[in-house]
Amino acid sequence: MRKVFALLATLLVLVLAVQFFLAASGAFDTAPNDESFQQHRGLGYGIVLFAILLTIFAALARMPGRLIGMTGLVAGLGVGQSLIRGIAAAFNDTGDTSTTAGTLVFGLHGVNGLIMLAVAAAVARRARALSRSAVADRPAGVAQPAS
Ligand code: HEM
Repeated sequence: MRKVFALLATLLVLVLAVQFFLAASGAFDTAPNDESFQQHRGLGYGIVLFAILLTIFAALARMPGRLIGMTGLVAGLGVGQSLIRGIAAAFNDTGDTSTTAGTLVFGLHGVNGLIMLAVAAAVARRARALSRSAVADRPAGVAQPAS
């Protein structure tokens, strides 16, 4: 179970990197945001769901509480991405024109994305170390328990 968790945690980091890729390509796209950020928005919600399921899996795999908490934090920060967008949009002027306040608030969306990436990377690193030590700690000749 620990090895599977380590693999999934590493996958989460890769998916977050793709999210940045989609953000950059969306920013370059001249189509309206609704269109140009569609994939980014879709993957953004997918990341939240993935992080929630991974948190449940971490608990089932009896990972250390700190690691379960950090995985849950990635999910919470992901929900925060929508909240930040909602708050930024609330500052929009009539005709949905962005304001300085809204754009400043939305800047936090990028920063929060970096924090999500850093936390997910720490989870993956720790999980890999734990799954390696689980292998190393097993006395020679003792079969690997069903993982
Ligand atoms: C880990 C990184 C990121 C995650 C998880 C993420 C997640 C999300 C989510 C969930 C939404 C949909 C919000 C909603 O409408 O409820 C969204 C929208 C958006 N994101 Fe990100 N985001 C990330 C990074 C970035 C970055 C770096 C940029 C900078 C270019 C960015 C730009 C946007 C924009 C412009 C929208 C709004 C699109 C619209 O008008 O509907 N995101 N993001």
